[in-house]
Amino acid sequence: MSKLIELKNIEKFYKLRDEKLHALKSINLTINQGDFLMIMGKSGSGKTTLLNILGLLDSFDGGIYNFNGEDLINLYEDKKSELRNKYMGFIFQQFHLIESLSIGGNVELPLLYAGNIPVAERRERVDKYLDLVGLLNKKNVKPTELSGGQQQRIAIARALINNPYVIFADEPTGALDSETGEEIMNILKRMNEENKTIVMVTHDADLVRYANKVIYIKDGVITKVDEKCPL
Ligand SMILES: Nc1ncnc2c1ncn2[C@@H]1O[C@H](COP(=O)(O)OP(=O)(O)OP(=O)(O)O)[C@@H](O)[C@H]1O
Ligand SMILES: [Mg+2]
Repeated sequence: MSKLIELKNIEKFYKLRDEKLHALKSINLTINQGDFLMIMGKSGSGKTTLLNILGLLDSFDGGIYNFNGEDLINLYEDKKSELRNKYMGFIFQQFHLIESLSIGGNVELPLLYAGNIPVAERRERVDKYLDLVGLLNKKNVKPTELSGGQQQRIAIARALINNPYVIFADEPTGALDSETGEEIMNILKRMNEENKTIVMVTHDADLVRYANKVIYIKDGVITKVDEKCPL
């Protein structure tokens, strides 16, 4: 398996009014193409901080982040956005759909940011990914007309539409009942079986069965790494 991401001794501090919070302490992590990696830990342990650094949504204060062979240090914001748009997809606990846009409009958005994609191709891809999550029939309705589980499926279609190398998901089942959460996990599992790399944050120990690699984080330190042998 080829290496997609490597973190070496990553440090993160949050500056509070009169103290510094050491949120991540010398994090070392390798993510290979095709991995389904879970980041487990209690509330406040640093999971979202780590995911946001991996997804270039937040900066880090020390160490090396290598993405697909390139060291990412001191990148300008527009270069970060470009990398995010091209290679990364995001799914959040609260779905983050834009209420004023239709479902189709929400899923199309990353294609508009990418630029230079003809309208016919955009339409074709929106339909393809809506179909993939089983919601093509909802293309013209607004997000508020959908259930939580349906909204999360739309967020997955949006995350996949640029065919990213990796999907980052922060507690994607956190706002859903367990049955609906299971549906979302099964879609992610299917994507992973088609070789999409997935990095997911959770504090639900029940979900580790979906992953081939689990890292446990406590007070900003990786305390344990579990790797399953490929089946
Ligand atoms: N923007 C911020 N400014 C200051 N401190 C922050 C900020 N974001 C997070 N922290 C602190 O950093 C630590 C790690 O937070 P983080 O959000 O990464 O935890 P988490 O594991 O995702 O928790 P949860 O499961 O509750 O989402 C916590 O102590 C938190 O209070
Ligand atoms: Mg969090």
